[in-house]
Amino acid sequence: QKIKVVVSRHLGPDVMPLLLDRPELDVVVWPEERACDRRWLLENIVGATAALVMLSEKMDQEMFEAAGPGLRVISTMSVGYEHIDLKLAAERKVKIGYTPDVLTEAVADVSVMLAFMASRNVRETAELVARGDWSKTPWAPFVFCGPQLSASWINTTRTAGFIGLGRISKATLARLIPFGFTHCIYTGNPHSKPNLEADAQTAQKYGLQSVRRVGLDELAAESDVVFVLAPGGPETRHIVNESFLRKMKKTAVLVNTARGTLVDSDALAKALREKWIWGAGLDVIEGEPDVRLDHPLLKESRCVILPHIGSATNETRLGMGTLAVNNVLAGIQGKKLPAELDT
Ligand code: GLV
Ligand code: GLV
Repeated sequence: QKIKVVVSRHLGPDVMPLLLDRPELDVVVWPEERACDRRWLLENIVGATAALVMLSEKMDQEMFEAAGPGLRVISTMSVGYEHIDLKLAAERKVKIGYTPDVLTEAVADVSVMLAFMASRNVRETAELVARGDWSKTPWAPFVFCGPQLSASWINTTRTAGFIGLGRISKATLARLIPFGFTHCIYTGNPHSKPNLEADAQTAQKYGLQSVRRVGLDELAAESDVVFVLAPGGPETRHIVNESFLRKMKKTAVLVNTARGTLVDSDALAKALREKWIWGAGLDVIEGEPDVRLDHPLLKESRCVILPHIGSATNETRLGMGTLAVNNVLAGIQGKKLPAELDT
C-alpha cells in the first residue's frame, strides 16, 4: 500500500517532482492557485502519513483527528509554527518539520530594507512620484527628510534593538554594521538565562561596542530601530503595545518581519498618528491578509506595509520547498528530520 502525503500548495516544477517521482508515495496536492481550503484539507488529510502545509493552514485538534493515528509528520514550509498545535503533536508523536536557516538571509534583507524605507519616508515619496506629482514638490533643503538611521556627525553611536536574538536577528545585525551601528540590545527568551560571555563574543564577532540583554522598557527607550523577530503565539502576543511604543524615541522606527500578533496594530496606529515614533515597516500584520482600505495603519504615511514577502526570493523559496520535502521524506521513514522542531 502506498504512503499518503497531502500537500496544501503546489510547490513548483523544481520541488514537486521530489515527491511526485517516488512510486511508493500517493501524493495528493491542493489543485488550485489560491490558498488551500480548510475543508479540502480536512477531507484529504484522512489516512495521510505526512502533511506538507503552509503557514495559512491551522493544524489544530480537528485537523489531527481528521488525519487519524497514522500521521507521522507535519512539515510546514515556513520557519514560523504559530499555526501548529505543538502540544497535540507531541502527545500524538507527530514530528514537526520547519524551514529555518534557508530563509534567514532573505528575511534579514527585508528587515533592513523596511527600516530604511520607514526612516526615509519611502512610502510617501515613491507614491508621490508614481502619482505624477513630483513637480509639485521639487527638491528643497528639508523636504521629505527623515532621521538618519546610519551613524552621522550628529549621531556617532547607533543602537539596534531586537525583540528576540535568533538567527534572523543576527543576520540583520550583521547587515547593520557597515551602516555604523555600535550597540545591540535585545530581549532574550524568558525561559533562558542571560549569558554575558556569549554577548561579549557576539560583540567581538560583529565589532560592536556592546551587546546587552535588557528588559522591554530599556529596549524601547534606547533603540534607534526596533526589530521584532520573536516567534508568534500567546506568550508574545502584543509584546509591542501602547506602553512600549510610548517609551520609544521619537526618531525611532519599528520593524516587524516576524508575526503580526506581536504588535498591537491599534496602538501602533495611534503612535504614528500622535508621532510618538517616527515610522514603521511591517511585513506582517494582525489579521493578514484581510487588510482593507479602512485599516487604521493604511492611513499612516510613515507606515510601510508589505504583504508577507520576507522569504520571497526564488532561491529561498526553492530552499524552503526542498527542505520541507526532505522533512516529509525523513518523517515517513521514521528518521530524524533535517529540520525538526523540538516539541
Ligand atoms: C514566514 O513567515 C515563515 O514563517 O517562514
Ligand atoms: C526566528 O525565526 C529565527 O530564525 O531567529
